[in-house]
This record gives sequence, structure tokens and C-alpha cells, in this order.
Amino acid sequence: MSNNNDYRQIIKQTKEYLRYLNDIGVKEIPYEKSKVKSQKSKVKDEETNNIKPTLESIKEELGDCKRCKLHKTRTNIVFGVGNPNAKLMFVGEGPGEDEDLQAEPFVGRAGQLLTKIIEAMGLKRSDVYIANVVKCRPPENRNPEPDEISECRPFLEKQIDAIKPEIIVVLGNHAAQTLLNTASGITKIRGQFFYYKDNIKVMPTFHPSYLLRNESKKKEVWEDMQKVMAELGLKIDAKK
Ligand code: URA
Repeated sequence: MSNNNDYRQIIKQTKEYLRYLNDIGVKEIPYEKSKVKSQKSKVKDEETNNIKPTLESIKEELGDCKRCKLHKTRTNIVFGVGNPNAKLMFVGEGPGEDEDLQAEPFVGRAGQLLTKIIEAMGLKRSDVYIANVVKCRPPENRNPEPDEISECRPFLEKQIDAIKPEIIVVLGNHAAQTLLNTASGITKIRGQFFYYKDNIKVMPTFHPSYLLRNESKKKEVWEDMQKVMAELGLKIDAKK
């Protein structure tokens, strides 16, 4: 049979079948919805089937986030940047003006100092992953507020779950207190390893913005980074 005859035959049989359905009272035929899954259903699948979210799926889930009031004043969401398989992750407080404009964390003055610290460790920015506790700039660079942190924190936690770093360096009070669930100040807890979810080491240290105002504290941060380097098996140059 030619193709055309095949089609005619199929159409004829389909019509007969539809007529038969009509005769027995079937007025509507259920159909399978598109196989292209919506982001909502992908997230649901991830939750119900325990599929590990990827940085991409986390970003999609975050979407054009309006979960807290910071969305009203931000220019861009600053999701995070770097190696999705990084062994080392840095977490800061929240984007400043430069980060808000460029949609990338730690690109302003404090960011340039962080880049120097990373390079002094023998690494590049692209070797590590850099994120913040909140992904939108708090107006006038004020501290992020508790409701803003609690809306944004699940996304940071998912990023950590996706990256599975060996060590997270938390920069300053807000990052340390958020990830370690502590009220202790950074001066008290810096320089010692803690744990996040029992298996990821966390090193609290001073925030680079604080170092810009307190040069003498750089020595302590370098001591903290040497501990991180030793843990990661990175070569330590004693002269730095
Ligand atoms: N300070 C932070 O905590 N994060 C940035 O991204 C920039 C400055």
C-alpha cells in the first residue's frame, strides 16, 4: 500500500472509532499534555524523586524572584559565580552597588581584595564558587534583614548541595551566623573549622570590606586561609 492509502485508511478508522465513541456517549477525549515539562513540574519532580538540583535548575526555580522586599530596589539578582564542582566556596553577605549592576558577586573594591586573596592561595576565581547570603542588594548597603535572609537562605543551601564543596569560607558576621546558625560574632569564631551539615568544613574569617578599613587584620585572614589551604592540600608559600 502507498503512504497516501495508509493515511486514508488510518483517518477512516479513526473517524469510525470517534463515531462509535460518540454513539456510546463519550463527548470528550482526554489527551496527554505536552511532554515538555514546565519548570514548576521539574522542581516538583526534583522534590518527589529526590533528584539533586543543579545550579541551572536552582537558578530557574529562583526565577525573577520577588519573595522578599529587596526585589523592589535591585537592578539584578546576583546568583553566584564560579566552578560548579568547586572544592572551595566563598560566601559573603550580599551584593553591593557594583555587584548589583554587574550581576556578579564580589566585583567591587572588596571583591578585588577577595580576588587577591584567592590568587594568593594559588587559585583563580574560576576555580572556586562565590555566592552571598542574599542575592539582591540591600538598599544603601544596609545589613540584610532576618526575613530577607530566611527567604534567600534555601537557595544558598541548594547551591551548596549542588556544588558539594569540601570547604566553605564564610566572610563576615552575616555569612558566618547564617551558615553556622550561631549568634557568635566573627571575631570570636574566626580561624577555626566548624561544620555545615556534618560533612562540609566551614572557616569563618573577616569580610574583605572590613579588611579595607582595618588593614592590620589581613594577617589573621591569611592565617585562616593557610589553614584552608592545608586542608585542601594546596602548597603554602611561607613568604606571602
Ligand atoms: N560584599 C559582599 O558581601 N558580597 C558581595 O558580593 C560584595 C560585597
